[in-house]
Amino acid sequence: MTTPARAAICRGNTEPFAIEDVELDDLRPDELRVRIVACGVCHTDMAVRDEQLPVPLPVVLGHEGAGIVEEVGSAVTVAKPGDRVVMSFNSCGTCPSCEVDAPTYCYNFFPHNWSGTRADGSPVMFKGGENMNANFFGQSSFATHAIAHEANTVKVPDSAAHIPLAQIAPIGCGLMTGAGAVLRSMKVRAGMPIAVFGAGTVGMAAIMAAKIAGANPIIAVDVNDGRLELAKELGATHAFNGKNDAIGKIKELVPQGLGYVFDTTGINSIIQDAWGLLAPMGICGIVGASDPKANLTFNEAEFMGGGRRVMGILGGDSDVGSFLVELLDYHVNGQFPYEKLIGYFDFSEINEAFHASEDGSVVKPVLKIGEE
Ligand SMILES: NC(=O)c1ccc[n+]([C@@H]2O[C@H](COP(=O)([O-])OP(=O)(O)OC[C@H]3O[C@@H](n4cnc5c(N)ncnc54)[C@H](O)[C@@H]3O)[C@@H](O)[C@H]2O)c1
Ligand SMILES: [Zn+2]
Ligand SMILES: [Zn+2]
Repeated sequence: MTTPARAAICRGNTEPFAIEDVELDDLRPDELRVRIVACGVCHTDMAVRDEQLPVPLPVVLGHEGAGIVEEVGSAVTVAKPGDRVVMSFNSCGTCPSCEVDAPTYCYNFFPHNWSGTRADGSPVMFKGGENMNANFFGQSSFATHAIAHEANTVKVPDSAAHIPLAQIAPIGCGLMTGAGAVLRSMKVRAGMPIAVFGAGTVGMAAIMAAKIAGANPIIAVDVNDGRLELAKELGATHAFNGKNDAIGKIKELVPQGLGYVFDTTGINSIIQDAWGLLAPMGICGIVGASDPKANLTFNEAEFMGGGRRVMGILGGDSDVGSFLVELLDYHVNGQFPYEKLIGYFDFSEINEAFHASEDGSVVKPVLKIGEE
């Protein structure tokens, strides 16, 4: 018995998303069916639409979903029917990375997140009896209902019971990545200077987390003055426009060099300039999607002599469950006020929501899909 649902089908960037009837497969033991209340829109959804990632089209995207559990498989312990949940990326649970609670670096990331099917190749979704690609990040939440997994589902803690699911939804991707990069990957030390390049969802989350960590100064760099203003509201002590010699201004402000630089732009020349700002033992964290052919060049003596590090970061080294609960605690306490980044859209306005993200007018669009 399949379950009927409505889902936004992505057929590539030449066609708008179209909301159509689909059917969800029956649940496997480790799966949950979630009635989706809301889902954030992220750059990775656009990268798939534009065929920059190896996800098969047509597909149902959406990987920042939150909703209410309708049914669970026999082995699920993370939540029960009626629970409010938020979803993140999926992982295998058994590879060498998963074994040490580093699921963002799961050896089997592709089959569990990007193959369009379950990791064993079976479809989770059908359309008119034909297989439909879904299970994107183990969810595909641009839909009224999604099949999620034990490994990528987090029960919203009672302490966040008063926060609407539409506000909770986007916490499982870019926000988690920026905050985790600061708090978990680079482990930013109190009193140390940090510069964040790119003040979008990931950079803003990093700035809020740098404030939580007690970094000082916290320098935001972007080319959008509106975003720089918001970065200051969220914790940046200084904000420089990248078009006006930001690198020179940072050198003047912190002549001894920075403990941390964090790049979310993925622009090769920015990363290299940012790396040049590091103090001894400084860390350059990199998250931005970049040209697959781009290579970075560093001076070998400065790299070795100062013990400097370049760190590739995925998902902010999140372990999903406990880190998302920690971030929700910060949110409830007012220390992670990411609601200031959100612009809400109705599910039927999915194409407008993508447009608002791409023209920079909304930092984090969130689609309202169902009643809470
Ligand atoms: N590694 C991961 O786990 C992970 C997770 C989520 C997102 N990402 C990637 O991280 C990147 C950032 O994501 P986001 O959602 O914050 O995107 P975003 O587009 O909201 O933010 C990027 C920001 O960079 C700014 N920018 C552009 N050119 C610049 C320049 N020359 N100098 C300074 N700033 C400049 C833009 O104005 C924008 O504010 C994307 O490439 C996304 O795909 C990676
Ligand atoms: Zn794994
Ligand atoms: Zn994402």
